[in-house]
Amino acid sequence: MYVRFLLGCCLFLLTHCAQELPSDVAEIYVALPEELDYNFDVKPILSDKCFACHGPDAGTRKGNLRLDLAGDDPGLSSEERSTRARALEGELQHRLLSDEPELMMPPPESQLTLTDKECAALIKWADTGGAYRDHWAFQRSQAVQVPPLEDWGRNPIDAFVYERLQREGLSPSAPATAATLLRRATLTLTGLPPTAEELSGFTVNDYESLIDTLLARPAYGERMAAHWMDVARYADSDGYLDDKHRRLWPYRDWVIRSFNNNLPYDDFVTQQLAGDLLPEANQETTLATTFNRLHKRNSEAGIVFEEARVEYVADRTLTLGKTFLGLSIECAQCHDHKYDPVSQRDYYSTFAMFNSTAELGTAVYGPDQTPGPALLLSDARQDSIIDYIRGLIAEQEKANPPSYDPQAVADVTRAPAGCMPPSTASEVR
Ligand code: HEC
Ligand code: HEC
Repeated sequence: MYVRFLLGCCLFLLTHCAQELPSDVAEIYVALPEELDYNFDVKPILSDKCFACHGPDAGTRKGNLRLDLAGDDPGLSSEERSTRARALEGELQHRLLSDEPELMMPPPESQLTLTDKECAALIKWADTGGAYRDHWAFQRSQAVQVPPLEDWGRNPIDAFVYERLQREGLSPSAPATAATLLRRATLTLTGLPPTAEELSGFTVNDYESLIDTLLARPAYGERMAAHWMDVARYADSDGYLDDKHRRLWPYRDWVIRSFNNNLPYDDFVTQQLAGDLLPEANQETTLATTFNRLHKRNSEAGIVFEEARVEYVADRTLTLGKTFLGLSIECAQCHDHKYDPVSQRDYYSTFAMFNSTAELGTAVYGPDQTPGPALLLSDARQDSIIDYIRGLIAEQEKANPPSYDPQAVADVTRAPAGCMPPSTASEVR
């Protein structure tokens, strides 16, 4: 095997590195993909075995070596830059393969050891230039190179599957039967099994039109909404102690409608985050913002309302991070963190976007209460009746002016941006 390695691999390595790899490591080295993925193949090893002394923490950094940044990162001093370059050019391999206690890495006193696989991966990473990539959540989406469709597969996804199968020394399964295809597609797109009638006479050639039929079914939107409602932390009850029932299902129906009407993703996101602030805001786009109100709600009479209110704003903030940024940002709620790219300043800048709703954080005392802004889900006919009644009230008020100042009541019940809302519900009443 070692002979194969010497023949098969890397003239570069032979000419470049003084040291030969032990056969176990060499064998793994050859089997690793030509191009390692920094985030999957390399960073977990560096993070576990090296960052304690060569990572983000300036207080524990050793030997002027940082392995947590790219070689051209402006955060590196010129000395760190050249130590990193020296490491990748051979010093790292030398240290990983060394048996001498004063040279070997990780050092014996750290009690950390590398497996042959980890060792091979780090050496191959260094040999191939030590590429660095940002955390995936910070990477811009890019078009990928589709591997050529060879003797198997029909679509670009198959090309990726086939390439990986080959790399793993596996061959594709036989094509599925028509019945299996029907069942898979129907379950995936509608969450329901196919019926006996749908099965009878179904052939593989009907697959394409089956997909169109399934996408057009109401059950398609329901199936997709089930996934989205998990992301949106949807529940039919409040989540604390008495766990009172909440009536937020009109939002669930909004999600189902959005999928079935093929609402574009950017609108889907914008409306849920801020549909009430759009220039063309309407009942439907405002309903979408229920997304921000799906946090737990406390019904304990003894809570400090302002504390509960802040909890709810924090919940909206972390949900924004997880749902749309693919990132847990909530660690920065209480402290900056040397390993965390999100600062407390970033966190509270995001928090601020949700911190201006007219909401008191009051306990939910009954199942029909909706503390905070609420939306009347009226239809056109109901709107005309409401307008009529409002007209009657206005007439009455004109004839018999109220003894209180309506503006003063409106001022108390609205929490102006940046101000503490009234601290008890009775002040509002
Ligand atoms: C417990 C602390 C500790 C850990 C963990 C550790 N190192 Fe080190 N490393 C040191 C110290 C201390 C030095 C400087 C002294 C020396 O050169 O031996 C050093 C030096 C080095 C150097 C030489 C830098 C130069 O000056 O050229 C390399 C390369 C290196 N480490 C790689 C690694 C790699 C790769 C890992 C993870 C597999 C690792 N180290 C894990 C403590 C550590
Ligand atoms: C509710 C506030 C709060 C949140 C949220 C929070 N922390 Fe902390 N964290 C603290 C406090 C307070 C300390 C200091 C505790 C002490 O010194 O005893 C601390 C200390 C730490 C430390 C030790 C730091 C050191 O140098 O010793 C780490 C690591 C840490 N937190 C990581 C995290 C991570 C990761 C998250 C997110 C999963 C997180 N924290 C979320 C309040 C918080």
